[in-house]
Amino acid sequence: MDKRPIVEAMQQFYENRNTSFHVPGHKHGALSELPRAFKDVMKFDYTELAGLDDYHHPEESIKEAQDLLARTYGAMKSYFLVNGSTVGNLAMVYATCSEGDQVLVQRNAHKSIFHALELVGVHPIFLTPEWDAITHTPTHVSLDTLQAALEYYPEAKALILTHPTYYGVTNPAMSEVISLAHSYHLPVLVDEAHGAHFIAKGEFPITALEMGADVVVQSAHKTLPALTMGSYLHINSQRVSNEKINRYLRMLQSSSPSYLLLASLDDARNYIGTYAHEDHQLFTGKRKQFVEALKTIPFLEVIEVDDPLKLLLRVHGYTGYTLQKQLEKQGVYVELADSEQVLLILPLLKARHQFPFANIRMKIKLAVEKCKNQQRNKMPIDYMHDLQALSTLAVSYKELRIAESESISYTKANGRISSGMVIPYPPGIPLFVRGERITTTKLKMLADYLASGATIQGEHDLSRKQLFVLKDN
Ligand SMILES: Cc1ncc(COP(=O)(O)O)c(C=O)c1O
Repeated sequence: MDKRPIVEAMQQFYENRNTSFHVPGHKHGALSELPRAFKDVMKFDYTELAGLDDYHHPEESIKEAQDLLARTYGAMKSYFLVNGSTVGNLAMVYATCSEGDQVLVQRNAHKSIFHALELVGVHPIFLTPEWDAITHTPTHVSLDTLQAALEYYPEAKALILTHPTYYGVTNPAMSEVISLAHSYHLPVLVDEAHGAHFIAKGEFPITALEMGADVVVQSAHKTLPALTMGSYLHINSQRVSNEKINRYLRMLQSSSPSYLLLASLDDARNYIGTYAHEDHQLFTGKRKQFVEALKTIPFLEVIEVDDPLKLLLRVHGYTGYTLQKQLEKQGVYVELADSEQVLLILPLLKARHQFPFANIRMKIKLAVEKCKNQQRNKMPIDYMHDLQALSTLAVSYKELRIAESESISYTKANGRISSGMVIPYPPGIPLFVRGERITTTKLKMLADYLASGATIQGEHDLSRKQLFVLKDN
């Protein structure tokens, strides 16, 4: 399987030294005034020319590479995505749900799932996830919650799950959850944005596809060596129409796909498809050494999760934001910080790779020491507690489209209906979604987020302590 059809076609094209009288306007980088190193890459920024296949109607190298992708992941059909898992999530919801359909959705989904629900105009039923006391994060939907949802909403048309979480936590009962949904004839759509590397097997968790999911979307750019925005979508079931998914992908994605992105997706597929026993051994050994070395740093707490590629670091008494700032001063940039901790995504090394773990440990040690010189600033956030297992919107997406909104002080927003998404970022999971009723529990969480210095995305005016809500009439 050591083969990269798109990369090979592009190399062949490059070697032919063709003259460009076509898009893009930079003419293989010649007209670009970007720095030299950027321009080197632009030489390969091709478009759909003879010999380079057609992204939306693949018959040559792109088809071959996508077939290899499907074989690698054990799917019936797989697609390269050039607009991230965001577009995969949109396409899978468009292809399986219709306006007004009841759809069961894990509440701690990424905002792209909520956007998809609204665009299609479904009737979402939100399934409250379990709470993980170790990582202090919301995780997965339990079997009991799903069972209750299926009993209350027997007309539901699909189940949308997220697996694993951003923090690398998986659901031990994921297979049973999928089987239960299937026994009610629901297709199971899984946002596996953070699990493209699970196929490496070994100590990595089992993939959603292997557990029987019908459609799975993965961000190859998050954990595999693909360019940003490069993702995969897999279909492995007759419950979902490949034709429909393909149609929506054609509608939702650019008609001018980046070949640099496609080449990196082809390469990333080859990277993971050839991940060998000796690669595992090296990765596991280096990781173990690194974790052990980190554990010797005074005041640093190291938390391992289900996904060995993720690691959480905490300094008792300090927020993750404080630790993140100190790490950045040492030149160490982490994936995210929250009020508790920082999250590292480790490199999925192969046997031939080097990585300066010892040097990084020194920098982390320095950052921790600098943290300890500051005022303690951590305050606990009571996330997701006292929430009902099932919830839904207070008004339909159709009503939302025409409803008028106003901005009010968030201290007065209890009981009102949110007209904006309010999204602590990262991890990008909405605290309030459009059309949901605002509760005191959630307002308390918002106040805690603000006090701990979190960045809040979405539609709000929180710099003036204002939220957007529907007018009371
Ligand atoms: C769980 C989850 N799903 C989907 C996405 C969107 O992925 P992408 O950035 O590839 O569009 C993200 C991005 O962070 C995510 O965390």
